Amino acid sequence: MLFNVLASLLATSTAVEAQYPGNAPSASYTLPNKPANGWETVSSKFWFDPNSIRASGYYAAAQWWFSDNTDVFYFGLQPMGKNDSMANLGQNGLAIFSCFGKGVNVVDSELCYGSADGGDGVSCRLNVNLDFGHWYEIIASLVDIDATGRRTWNGTLVDDQGTPTHIGSWSTDPSFGAIKGDVAQWFEFYSFNGQEAIPYSQKECQFYTSVHFGLPTGYPHGPSGPAVQAGPHTGVGKLIIGDKCAVAANTPNQKESFGADGSVTITGGFLPGSNDNVPLP
Ligand SMILES: *[C@@H]1O[C@H](CO)[C@@H](O)[C@H](O)[C@H]1NC(C)=O
Ligand SMILES: *[C@@H]1O[C@H](CO)[C@@H](O)[C@H](O)[C@H]1NC(C)=O
Repeated sequence: MLFNVLASLLATSTAVEAQYPGNAPSASYTLPNKPANGWETVSSKFWFDPNSIRASGYYAAAQWWFSDNTDVFYFGLQPMGKNDSMANLGQNGLAIFSCFGKGVNVVDSELCYGSADGGDGVSCRLNVNLDFGHWYEIIASLVDIDATGRRTWNGTLVDDQGTPTHIGSWSTDPSFGAIKGDVAQWFEFYSFNGQEAIPYSQKECQFYTSVHFGLPTGYPHGPSGPAVQAGPHTGVGKLIIGDKCAVAANTPNQKESFGADGSVTITGGFLPGSNDNVPLP
């Protein structure tokens, strides 16, 4: 649903940068000390600025590559508006866990379905209560390898109280291998998908939402063991002047800023009353 461009890019390109959803600002990292067989548990962390507008339109995600082929999986969070589906249950966000490519099977049929952005793969999605100003960790972990070498992976959302929630599970053909340790963390304004033909000067202004990503993490001994964090980022995505507010202000309506530890904050849209994206303190 979100990244129709992805499948075609994957088919035609092996360049890492080309696999990000169109125009999503990003920061890429590599986990150090890759285990001999690849990573079996990895995570990314997300914190939404409480000044963010409560509406659907953004996807904060981490895209990880597998060890033994060129396919990827994503997980991340999408805020939703008060009036979006499930709001009556007090849930105002989605947690997503998807895998792209041929040879991916649904494990949880109540949470997952057998395609990813209209192409081969599996997507799992869970309505969650997403609080701004709180940290969330999403963990992808290998939970089974069967006799044929087929791997089953669980996606788990952990809130800042340490409470885990199962997002979904899918399994991968043996040819995928484990996880490579390369990751791109990105922040997409997916409301512009399908509007590629509209000039930026005529696109509605993105509303302000900002997300701080923690450093990508690997767990060499499983989720309850010690963690390894990625070092400084190895690349950044391009920032564009992508809507009519940005064209009027002649400055990108997206911003990235890096903390001393190398973690990135990515902002979309201007703070209300501002013509510039303001980094978080
Ligand atoms: C949400 O729905 C309520 C009740 O239908 C309506 O009064 C309100 O304006 C809606 N809010 C938004 C942001 O659409
Ligand atoms: C993985 O998810 C399944 C639900 O699909 C659950 O039953 C199982 O306990 C989970 N495994 C681990 C190791 O968390």
